[in-house]
Amino acid sequence: MSAHVEIAVQGTVQTLRLNRPDKKNALTGEMYKALADALKASDAAADIAVTVFLGLPGIFCAGNDLLDFLAAGQGGGGAMHGFTFIQALAEREKPLIAAVDGPAVGIGTTLMLHCDLVFASPRAVFQTPFVNLGLVPEAASSLLGPRVMGHSRAFELLVMGEPFTADRAREAGFVNHVVPPEALESAAMTAAEALAAKPREAVKLARRLLKGEPAPVKARMEQEGALFLERLKSKEAMAAFEAFLQKTPKIQ
Ligand code: COA
Repeated sequence: MSAHVEIAVQGTVQTLRLNRPDKKNALTGEMYKALADALKASDAAADIAVTVFLGLPGIFCAGNDLLDFLAAGQGGGGAMHGFTFIQALAEREKPLIAAVDGPAVGIGTTLMLHCDLVFASPRAVFQTPFVNLGLVPEAASSLLGPRVMGHSRAFELLVMGEPFTADRAREAGFVNHVVPPEALESAAMTAAEALAAKPREAVKLARRLLKGEPAPVKARMEQEGALFLERLKSKEAMAAFEAFLQKTPKIQ
């Protein structure tokens, strides 16, 4: 349970809404745990067909909470729930949909590579400043990014840290539809209901055929995770987190 993740069910559609507006939906360990638990529960639940990730008007997710990164880098632990969440994404059998309005940073963007359908408003901006923060890509984005959009565009997104607009993300192949903000959630829910109405087992099998087995994705998550944990402790990363939290970012 987390006060910052609203879990609801509409018919056979589970919705997971990030709701931490004062911190732009930055994800804490508690939020990751709630998301991972909800994903696993809905994958196992006979009465749920699909899960939809939602944010708030004008903000999808500011990525991992940078205070938690700082604490983890100083030896405080706390990175485990994030790993449990991304593993749940890799192991997921039922479809995932996202509706993105506003910034989607870090895991807010790499989550899209695990979704089957992504709806974004023109206010959506996808960005992964991993390298700018002294870190490396995570959530198997180093594997799935090039697979989805080719090496060059994945490099711009994941290494250069370039912001991708909704249109650019659609061209790159990880956004399906660009929809006005006021129609965004209903578009995502309509797609979810259409998916939910299809033969459940056939959807699951077809999805697995398209995505392939989870083992290589999980292996890449482990590989990235080992480097990520090392990098969290680096001087480069510590300086970047502190600069952001003191509102004096030096690296853009
Ligand atoms: N971790 C912790 N706090 C965060 C945060 C994060 N990832 N992102 C935003 N916040 C906090 C800010 O510190 C600020 O807190 P305060 O009001 O107590 O000072 C509050 O959320 C609002 O953030 P602000 O930067 O003023 O909002 P904005 O609308 O100008 O910009 C973002 C929104 C998401 C573009 C910007 O906050 C941002 O770039 N966040 C960092 C993203 C990041 O690097 N994530 C890690 C990816 S690996």
